[in-house]
This record gives sequence, C-alpha cells and structure tokens, in this order.
Amino acid sequence: MSNGKTELLSPTPAGIARAVDLLSDGQLVALPTETVYGLAGDATSDMACARIFEAKGRPRFNPLIVHLPSLAEVERIATLNDTARALASGFWPGPLTMVLPLRDGHGLSPLVTAGLDTVAIRLPAHPLMRDVLKAFGGPIAAPSANPSGRISPTAVAHVLSGLDGRIAAILDGGPCGVGLESTILAPSDTGTRLLREGGLPRETIEPLTGPLTTDTTPGKVQAPGQLSSHYAPKAQVRLNAPLTDPNAIRVGFGPGSADLSLSPTGDLIEAAANLFSTLHAADDLAKERNAREIHIAPIPDQGLGRAINDRLTRAAAPR
Ligand code: TXA
Ligand code: MG
Repeated sequence: MSNGKTELLSPTPAGIARAVDLLSDGQLVALPTETVYGLAGDATSDMACARIFEAKGRPRFNPLIVHLPSLAEVERIATLNDTARALASGFWPGPLTMVLPLRDGHGLSPLVTAGLDTVAIRLPAHPLMRDVLKAFGGPIAAPSANPSGRISPTAVAHVLSGLDGRIAAILDGGPCGVGLESTILAPSDTGTRLLREGGLPRETIEPLTGPLTTDTTPGKVQAPGQLSSHYAPKAQVRLNAPLTDPNAIRVGFGPGSADLSLSPTGDLIEAAANLFSTLHAADDLAKERNAREIHIAPIPDQGLGRAINDRLTRAAAPR
C-alpha cells in the first residue's frame, strides 16, 4: 500500500526513471497506454501483484494482462503458434492482447495467471509505456487503473478520482488515444476465439485469422481463472477451520500455531501474495504426511480478504 500520497510524474526521462524505481521496489504506478491507463506492478513479484488487487478492491483474483516491450521477451514466457505469430506481426505493438500457453520457467507470480496454464500478453504501443518497459527490463502486470466495477480511466484525472492515495504514482501521458481496452484473442490451432471486444476491431482481425468464434454457451466460463477446479489442491480444503485437528495440514492467518501461515501478522496483502504458493505447499505437505484435509483459518471477509475467500471457496468446492 502507499503512504497516502500519490506522486504525479512528468513524461520526462526523470519521470520515467522514478516510475521504474518505484516498480522495482514493488510499488504500483499508473502508466499510460494507448488503450487506457494501466495499474502497473512487477509481474514477477507476489507482493506487487497482491497490491494491484488490493488497490483495485477486486473481489476476485482475475488473471492480469502482462505487458512486454518485444516479441523476444514474449517468447521467454509463452509459446506462439502460427496464428499467434501472424497476429503479433500484424498488430503488435497495439491494442491487442493474446492469451497464450505458458512456458516452463516463466517466472511470473501465480497471482498474474490466477493459476492458469495460459497468460494474457500485450505489447503496448504508447511510447512512455514502452520506455518504462525497456528500462524496467521485466514483465509488467497491469489491469485498467480503476477501482473494480468502475469505468476504465483514459486520463490522469480519472485515475486520481478512483485511486488517489492508493498507489505510489501516476506517469502523466495525457489522454489515451484509443480509449477502449485491448481486444483479447485466444489463438489456437483450431481457430481464434474472441474473448473481449476492444480497441482492435473484429473486421481488422478476421482477414488474418478467418472468422473469430465467440462462445456464448450459457454457463460456459469465459475467463477460466474463475473455474472452481483451477488451483484446487488434491487434498480436501476446509475453510474457517479452528486448526485443532492434528491430522490435517493447518494453514493459519495471524498469530497461533499452524503448519503453514498465509500471514503470521494477519496482513491481508501478505496473505494474498502468499496464497497460491501456500496452497501448493499445503498440498505437498499433505502428500508427504498422508493427510487428507487442509484446514484453513478464518480470513476476514473485507478488502483483499474477499478475493482470498473467493479463491479459497473455489479451492474448497467439491470436485
Ligand atoms: O487495454 C488493456 O487491455 C488494459 C491496459 C492497461 O493494458 N488492461 C486491461 O486489463 O484491460 P484488465 O485486467 O482490466 O482486463 C484483463 C482481462 C480480464 O477480463 C481477464 O479475465 C482477461 O484479461 N484475462 C487475463 N488473463 C487471461 C487468461 N489467461 N485467460 C483468459 N482471460 C484472461
Ligand atoms: Mg478493467
């Protein structure tokens, strides 16, 4: 979290350098892109990614878009088929996001992918964003820089009205040229799916890909990060548990004895940062000790706690 004062950074080398320093320190900076302002954080840092969800007040850990400066950087993180390559050379940098299979050793925080085996990637065209990406030298996660449920920001004033005092800084890039979020596509060998309409129109894409499919089957989940089966450990998860059962793997929150802890001090940002890795560790420990259940202490249902509980509820859902 920030100390309550949001710095306004000028679009100068000094402003860019300050933005990069803050990002390297795990802080959040609103950055201009050609679509909308993004709420940027280090995509390899669990803490930075947890702060993004905290600042937005997102009720769920929806997966985040990863921003990179070049195709070479994309190839280190994800794999591209022929269609993805054609789309990349046709429309990157620009208002296009592609959902691609993750490569081993990608190094991203599991909070970015929400535990999926795919990642949403975009090469933005905005010169300031590109300068920051090149100087930062790593992947930047950035959802739109608005509180959850509010309208995406296309000017500094919009960002301030929603997030002033909740983020470290804003880099002033003036109004965004496109003003609509990026179009999200999932290119696969059997065809390309349109996951979100956006700044790159369908008519511009289809000559390259053929007809885009949109799956509107009722009940079909568009963002797979929301499926209950994702990130569910093999052992049965029980929530709001008193942590008194010695046969279960006990995951604590706040003071008290447990096998693992989401946050010994009861800090929700730390708990969010630790969530996915702790679930993994709990599952490993369950295997090691032949434990059938993972018990998780109550997490307050406020702020980031709501997103944590949403995710834990899915992990605990019967399969
Ligand atoms: O223009 C934009 O795309 C802006 C700028 C800042 O880049 N960003 C943006 O991010 O709109 P956000 O977080 O507001 O929207 C991200 C969307 C969500 O709907 C999420 O479900 C989807 O991307 N998404 C991310 N990863 C995904 C994945 N692996 N599979 C499917 N959908 C994914
Ligand atoms: Mg958004």
